[in-house]
Amino acid sequence: MSVINFYQKDHQVPLEMHKVRVVQKLFLPSVEERVAKIREAGNNTFLLQNKDVFMDMLTDSGVNAMSDNQVAASMQADDSYAGSETYNRLVKALKEVFKTEYFLPAHQGRACENILAESFVKPGDVIPMNFHFTTTKAHITRMGGRVEELVIKEGLDPDYIYPFKGNFDIPRLKALIAEVGAEHIPFVRIEAGTNLIGGQPLSMENMLEVAKVCRENGIMSVLDASLLQDNLYFIKTREEAAKNMTIKEITHKIADAIDLIYFSSRKLGFSRGGGIVSNNNDLILKMKEFIPLFEGFLTYGGMEVRAMEAMAVGLLETMDEEIINQGPQFIEYLVKELDDYGVPMVKPAGGLGAHINASAFLPDMPHDQYPAGALAAALYIAGGIRGMERGSISEQRNEDGTENYAELELLRLACPRRVFTLSQIKYCADRVKWLYDNRHLIGGLKWKEEPQVLRFFSGKLEAIGDWQYKLADKFREDFGESL
Ligand SMILES: Cc1ncc(COP(=O)(O)O)c(C=O)c1O
Repeated sequence: MSVINFYQKDHQVPLEMHKVRVVQKLFLPSVEERVAKIREAGNNTFLLQNKDVFMDMLTDSGVNAMSDNQVAASMQADDSYAGSETYNRLVKALKEVFKTEYFLPAHQGRACENILAESFVKPGDVIPMNFHFTTTKAHITRMGGRVEELVIKEGLDPDYIYPFKGNFDIPRLKALIAEVGAEHIPFVRIEAGTNLIGGQPLSMENMLEVAKVCRENGIMSVLDASLLQDNLYFIKTREEAAKNMTIKEITHKIADAIDLIYFSSRKLGFSRGGGIVSNNNDLILKMKEFIPLFEGFLTYGGMEVRAMEAMAVGLLETMDEEIINQGPQFIEYLVKELDDYGVPMVKPAGGLGAHINASAFLPDMPHDQYPAGALAAALYIAGGIRGMERGSISEQRNEDGTENYAELELLRLACPRRVFTLSQIKYCADRVKWLYDNRHLIGGLKWKEEPQVLRFFSGKLEAIGDWQYKLADKFREDFGESL
């Protein structure tokens, strides 16, 4: 990776290795309008209209900026139902990235999870993983399986500084296999760049160790590579054993050890779509028939051919350290700005976005008033910034209807790759700092409309009391006429 030092060392900032050629105009509604909009949206940032959002930090999914080469490639897509050249080019790129022979296309990450669950999970099965992801767990439980989370205990401590907080606790994995029996474990799922605990990576060593334990016990190992891109950057920059390896060599080493890899290309490869790859044809054959059933014909799997072309180029670009370093560097900058001010952040900075520890931000808020959700609504009021609640609202209720409180109450501020400038990141930090100084004004939320499955996507909540108006009044007092 190139090193570019600033002459004035205290002016050193992350420096983008790209320039912007296509831009999109933004709008920032007034603070009074922001209060009205978030209330209309049921205090659920998923339900805000993008036209009312200044900085969209909801997710990086499908909203990363594409490169000139990706856009150019998408123009030469071969749009045929079956046997398209686009498919062949994508298979070739996947072979280069993962060294895998077989590919099943699917329309996005959760579609791969659906197919995996349909093909391998039976009632009573246990699926160990470092940590669950919302859609993964929903598909496994739908098939009667159970998720067991085996992340190291440090992974759940937002303040504990450790480079690989997404690592599996290997002794617990071995103990779980001994306890439930390998025959009840269809696969072990490794989630690169662990989403729900702050984008925390696993080390290459830990991934290889999990794969070895699986092999020794005759259990299939599965890598969810949706967030692999940031994880690769962290392996390269934080793990001694990988210091002299290229990103591609690290990817090959991991892929060689794993039986099956799936990914959302809305994340990996700066595109849209997804897929499953493997060198094991028997595993592929068990899933193959579900592709035409649920997704589309085997050479497009529900994807748009232009997205497939962009994916092929984007996956190859993922092997370039100067392309994948932009996200983690901006996230680290934002985390440092806020941490230095005293805002409780998940540390060390991970991938995907900056994560605010909402329980520590709002220590007096009762758990049943959803601190991470309340903070998400408050930040939209403070700055037109749309983050995502990653706490109890994102969990499913227990079978008896009681709340299943999340282990971490986080507000995620995703940093879609190459989308924001550093001044926008600074604006975000400024508004979070103001909110932190005014945190005593933030009140809780209660349910108004609560869907049973994946309630965080479309559920509606209401503010308890009139705190949102008071927060807007304080904003006016402090910022005057400013938007
Ligand atoms: C780790 C992980 N796995 C799976 C998915 C699901 O992917 P998709 O949103 O494309 O369905 C996501 C999406 O955020 C994710 O972060």
